[in-house]
Amino acid sequence: MLPMEDVSEVPNQRHARQAFSLEGQTAIVTGAATGIGEAIAVRLASAGAGVAVFDLNLAGAEHVAHSLPNHSFAVEVDVSDAASVRQGVEAVLSRTGQIDILVNNAGIAGRAAFVWEQTDEDWQRNIAINLTGVFNCCRAVTPSMRSRGYGRIVNVASIAGKEGNPRMAPYSATKAGVIAFTKSLGKELATEGICVNAVSPAVVHTQILDQLTPEQVTYMTDRIPMRRAGKAEEIAYVVQFLASRECSFVTSQCYDASGGRATY
Ligand SMILES: NC(=O)c1ccc[n+]([C@@H]2O[C@H](COP(=O)([O-])OP(=O)(O)OC[C@H]3O[C@@H](n4cnc5c(N)ncnc54)[C@H](O)[C@@H]3O)[C@@H](O)[C@H]2O)c1
Repeated sequence: MLPMEDVSEVPNQRHARQAFSLEGQTAIVTGAATGIGEAIAVRLASAGAGVAVFDLNLAGAEHVAHSLPNHSFAVEVDVSDAASVRQGVEAVLSRTGQIDILVNNAGIAGRAAFVWEQTDEDWQRNIAINLTGVFNCCRAVTPSMRSRGYGRIVNVASIAGKEGNPRMAPYSATKAGVIAFTKSLGKELATEGICVNAVSPAVVHTQILDQLTPEQVTYMTDRIPMRRAGKAEEIAYVVQFLASRECSFVTSQCYDASGGRATY
């Protein structure tokens, strides 16, 4: 018989408090001044977490943080800048002493254009925010999660990272990178009580779609079997599970929230 792992951290169902509770925990959600990130921050705070709302847009982040319970607060952070991320994480640790959850949500779509029309800046900007941003934040929080032997990291990828949307090659490449990065980091941390997973939404109505043409949005929505865009809250519920203690035997996975667009 295989030795049983120590699963004492898994909540006992028979003495269950409310499932997926995040009571007493601290979460960082990047890009949470609006859109999917805001919905995730609201969901995690509703489940009991104090949320550090990370965003470039400080006024927006403060607006969201002030609407949340559990001493949530805003921090101005540019995820593409390693020093800014380090300072943000230090600010959270000095305020709360712990980081239980990191949700890497900040991202941009970039310009909808063919590869031969994309500029160096278009390409670099996508990589810097969507991919290097995830690396910067994961690298900054893992030492403290490892020292406590607990953590949940959720990376917001995209169905574009699996399917490859035409006219969104830089974006699609970064999101495929986020999925692979998630699988690698999950395996690196698999025996340390830290689970790392990704969520891949299909089209969700937020202001990110303003960066694209209406034709591009129609192209993406038409490919969703449910024949509708998702709601930010629908993504947030998936993130809540992946951010919870109950997500204890799930790591290195990519969860699609795509109305059935990709089934692999
Ligand atoms: N909306 C969709 O259809 C959709 C689909 C799939 C995946 N996603 C992904 O979901 C995530 C959130 O998307 P959204 O639709 O809510 O976007 P959004 O544009 O509504 O919000 C993005 C937030 O990220 C912040 N941000 C941008 N660059 C940043 C930086 N360098 N540092 C810190 N914050 C930064 C913005 O200020 C903004 O508050 C992104 O990673 C996106 O790629 C969105």
